[in-house]
Order: sequence, then structure tokens, then C-alpha cells
Amino acid sequence: MCGIIGYCGRRPAVPLVIEGLSRLEYRGYDSSGIAYLQARRLELVRAEGKLAMLENKLAERSSSLATIGIGHTRWATHGLPVERNAHPHRSQNDALAIVHNGIIENYQELKDVLSSEGYVFSSDTDTEVLANLISFELDSLLVERFGQGAEFSKKVEEYIEKSNQNSSIFIEIMEEAFSNALKKAHGAYAVVLLSPMIPQNIFAARLAAPLLLGIGVGEFFVASDVPAFLPYTKDVVFLEDKEIAILSDSSYEVKSLETGHVVKKEIHHIPWDIQGAAKDGHKHFMLKEIMEQPKVLRDCLAGRVQDGKIVLPELDGIAVPTRIRILACGTSYNAGLWSQHYLESLAQIPVTVEIASEFRYRKPLLSTGELILVISQSGETADTLGALRLCKERGHTVLGLCNVLGSSLAREADATLYTQAGPEISVASTKAMLSQMVLLLLLSSYWGQRKNLYDDNAVKTRETILQGLISLPAVLDDLLPALRKKANELARKYAFAHSFFYLGRGLAYALALEGALKLKELSYIHAEAYASGEMKHGPIALIEPDFPTFVVAFDDEHFPKVRSGILEVQSRQGKVIALVQENCHVECEDMWYLPETSLPEFLALPAMQLFSYEMADYLGKDVDQPRNLAKSVTVE
Ligand code: AGP
Repeated sequence: MCGIIGYCGRRPAVPLVIEGLSRLEYRGYDSSGIAYLQARRLELVRAEGKLAMLENKLAERSSSLATIGIGHTRWATHGLPVERNAHPHRSQNDALAIVHNGIIENYQELKDVLSSEGYVFSSDTDTEVLANLISFELDSLLVERFGQGAEFSKKVEEYIEKSNQNSSIFIEIMEEAFSNALKKAHGAYAVVLLSPMIPQNIFAARLAAPLLLGIGVGEFFVASDVPAFLPYTKDVVFLEDKEIAILSDSSYEVKSLETGHVVKKEIHHIPWDIQGAAKDGHKHFMLKEIMEQPKVLRDCLAGRVQDGKIVLPELDGIAVPTRIRILACGTSYNAGLWSQHYLESLAQIPVTVEIASEFRYRKPLLSTGELILVISQSGETADTLGALRLCKERGHTVLGLCNVLGSSLAREADATLYTQAGPEISVASTKAMLSQMVLLLLLSSYWGQRKNLYDDNAVKTRETILQGLISLPAVLDDLLPALRKKANELARKYAFAHSFFYLGRGLAYALALEGALKLKELSYIHAEAYASGEMKHGPIALIEPDFPTFVVAFDDEHFPKVRSGILEVQSRQGKVIALVQENCHVECEDMWYLPETSLPEFLALPAMQLFSYEMADYLGKDVDQPRNLAKSVTVE
């Protein structure tokens, strides 16, 4: 997730901006940069890699006069994590520089228009397009007012001195240009602008990406997250969508992008310390990452649904496969197993799902034309990469599904779909799996579209699923607090257990695997997942009163059989926690109901994540860094 910091005040801006960026490092990034005004000259320094690389470059520059600056840590979404794609991005005529978080969905159309106007681009980013769009709007206004555009913006200082005009006329012009450009940009943005034309001001705006102001004494900050300026002020103004802010070293103003009217904003006092703020006030990164899953759903869907159709341009050059082999490890394997049902039913493509570490050593037989789909949050898992390389050697096309742009997987796959879940800090994978499931569902529909599966049933099914996905963020937003409360109660009741069964059937089986994995890796309680139909083939011999069974089931054709399995467990005094939809009628020791929705697995997964989280927290385990585990298993 990109990090943004801007400073406007009377102190040296560069050290404050660099410090702010360092406090945002936890968000994960692959490059960084800073822009500042040194005696009205726009200076811009960027570097690939960690902040230290940026600081080394800055050491060669003088910046002591700068009291206004903006900085950015980039988590790449458009374009590789190299210096030319790092932020800030300046406009072609050096009239301004911006930093940006979010995705400008119509950036290609805007880029085409600007190119036809003579703009030349040096990066692959949507941000550079936005910078030049603002500059284009600015030029139009300057030509209208003064008869000349870009060149004039460099003579503004001279003009002000000669005409005794104050700079407010240029603040108004810049505000109009900024607003005009943002009204043309669709998607999500948190954007901060700096310009030598308005040397005392910083402009900021947000749409569907967080941005907030830090209200200091004689100084103002703008940032994507509180930690960036928390040592200097705890007084914060949260910008809302389609609001712009104009900061100087003596004041700030928030206006409506649509009406231009001033918006009165409440100042909030942040009670957190620095460590707390990096987790948005949550006790652990894992809890933060579970609770931000509605946002992850939105981000993963962003730009991928247009007029009821799935659009995945990354796959335009990939033929629709006749067979698919999914290879992954751990939680990513569980996501792949879950998707088999949808890929086969929506796209009618046969799917085999294998654990990468098993697949790569058994001299597998692959069909001609079989597409290899490798799933990995980190993109660095050794066994998954090993399996990918084996398939590449045999000439198979490899599609990657990954959360880290520029990772080994992303570089070696023939095409990569990014889950856009933002960095996952906690070792236990939570939001990454949810975003993998969203993307796999979109992929199933996409290939169904490409195969022209347009019989009534196929179309209706895809429409239902799409509507379900689009409605999910709001449903999950409402449901998460209740899920956490129930998880907390159950964790306290079952903390005595030394072993758990997790049972599921059909779509729920992969979730049972994931639930068991989460409980094991977080609370260190043994948990074993089984396809519920397998219990009578042996495992049921283990059932005793202190060997609880967690059943996850949905209101589908499997439920009657699942209910029979529950009764078999209960007839041997086994206690059952039943995580089921409201229309699933069964009586268990503990009932955990989910609302009736078309995609219940997207609600069941956070419920089980929270159950494991609350259990680990209650048992005093190291939630974010469980013993023996690494976030990315780069060894075999
Ligand atoms: C999940 O909670 C674990 N941390 C682990 O199973 C993980 O999913 C697995 O190592 C695969 O990682 P990847 O998705 O980065 O390839």
C-alpha cells in the first residue's frame, strides 16, 4: 500500500518528510521519493528499494531552505518497482509534482488524449498521467488568463513582483485546474500536489483512498496514515471522498470538489501511540488485516467489472485453457482448491489442484496446452517457484496470481493477476486468501465469457455471482463486529481443547482446511480438517467430549448429509460448533449463524480467521509472529 506525507510549515521540510516516510514503512513498499521547493525551484529525488537509498541520494543535494515538501513510498500497481515509476511524478513542463495512492481506472484514455496534445511520458504509471492532466488544465487556464501557458508558469514570480499581484490569484487558478483534472479522473485517488507557482501551498484530494490532515501549530501535514506525523500532532482532520484541501504554513481549508464550497471539518484527537497507529488502532496487524477485508474486496474488484462484464486485460494474450493445473502451498493452496468448483462450473474447464511441493518431485504428466495457475501471496515461496519453473521448462504457459508486484513469481510467470490486497504484515495469511478467492471467481466468470457460455443458466449464474461480489463489502462491513464478538465467546469456551476436527463438504471443505490451518499456526492447538463424508471412514473413532468439532456448512445440496455427519459426532458425545447459514436447521452445542447470501464462503472465512485470532490472543500467543513460522517460505 503506498504511503503519502506532505509538510507545509516553517521548519526544514525534507527531514520531516523522510521521517514521515519511515513511519509508513510498515505498509510495505518497493521505491520512494520526495519533492520539495528550494528557493521556488522544484527539486525531485527518487530511489528504488528502501528509504536509505533515497537518503543517500538526498545527501548530495541541498534542501535546507525547503519548508514545503511531499514524499511517497510506492507499493507498485501500474508498472514495475523501478525509479522511473517511483513517485513523485512531475508534469512534463515542471509546473508541478504529485504523489498518489489508488488506481486511476481511465488512465489509458486520458494518456491517449494527452499524448495527442504532445505530452510525452517517461513512466508506466497512472500517476504521471494525472500530473500531466492537471498541468494540461493549468495551461488552459493560464492561456485564458494571461495568453500563455506552461512557459508563463515559470515566470509567475516575476509577474507577481512586477504587477504587485499577490499569489492568491495563482492559488485560485491552481485550485480550478486541480479540480477540473480530478473530475476527469475515475477510480480511486489520494493525491498531493506541490508547485513552484504556489510556493506556500500544498493541495490534496481524495476519492476512495484514505488521506488525512495533521493540524500542527504553524505547520500542517497531509498523509495517508496517522503514524506519518503523530510525533508532531495528534490533531487530525479526515478528508472524505471528493474533498480537496489547501494547506499553507498558517492555515488549511477543505472544500467540496463538486461545489467548490468550504466544508467545515471536525478535528479529531488521536489517542494512539505510534505502534498502535500503524495498526489503525488494532491490537495486532492480523486483526487489522481481517477487519480491512471489505476494503480489500473493493480494491480487488476495482477496474475489473465494466458493464456487467469481467475485464482482465492481463489475460488478453492468453488462450482460454482446455485444462488448468493449480499449484500452491498453505493458504494459497486452500484458495486454489476452493476455486476448483467455480472454474469447472462457470468456465467448464477441468481443474487439478496440487500442493506445489508434492507436484514438483513426482515427475508429473501434464496435458498439452494445460495452463499452469500458480497462486502465491508473496510470490517468493520456494516450492511454488520450483513447480512454476518445472512447468516453464516443459513449455507450459504459466499464469500467476500474486499480491506482490515485481516478485519472482510475477517476473517469471507469462502473465500475472494481482490481488491488490496491500501488504500483508501478519505471518498468518488472511486478507490475501479472500482477495485470491475474489480473483479466482472473477477468472472463472471471465473464462466463461471468453468461451461464450451464454445459455440462460450460465448468464444467470454469472450475474448472481457478480451481484454477490459487488454487495459483499457492505455486507461484510456490517457483519465483522458481530463475527468478532461471537469468535471471542467461542474462543474462551473452547480454549481448553487440545485437538479440533474441522469438517466441510463441497465448497466448505477447502474452508475447513483453511480454518484448521489458522487454528494450528496461531494457537498451537492441533486441528485436523476432513471432508465431512470421510468421518465414518475412520476419524470418528477419535471423538470424545473434549475433542470438539468445528463444522462449516452452507445452505446447499450437501447440507442434509452434513447434518447426518453432525448427528454421528454428537451421538458419541462430541461437541460441535456449527458455522452455518440461517436456513441450515440443526441443533448443536454452539450455533454460529451467517446471513443467507449467494457467496457465504466470503463470510465464513473471516469468521474462522477471527475464531483463530481470538483463541491465540486469549491464550497469549504471538499473534503476528507465531513460533517457527516465516511470512514467506523461501526455503524448501
Ligand atoms: C498461511 O497463513 C501461512 N502463512 C502459509 O501457509 C502461507 O499461506 C504459505 O506459506 C504460502 O505462502 P504464499 O502464498 O506467499 O506462497
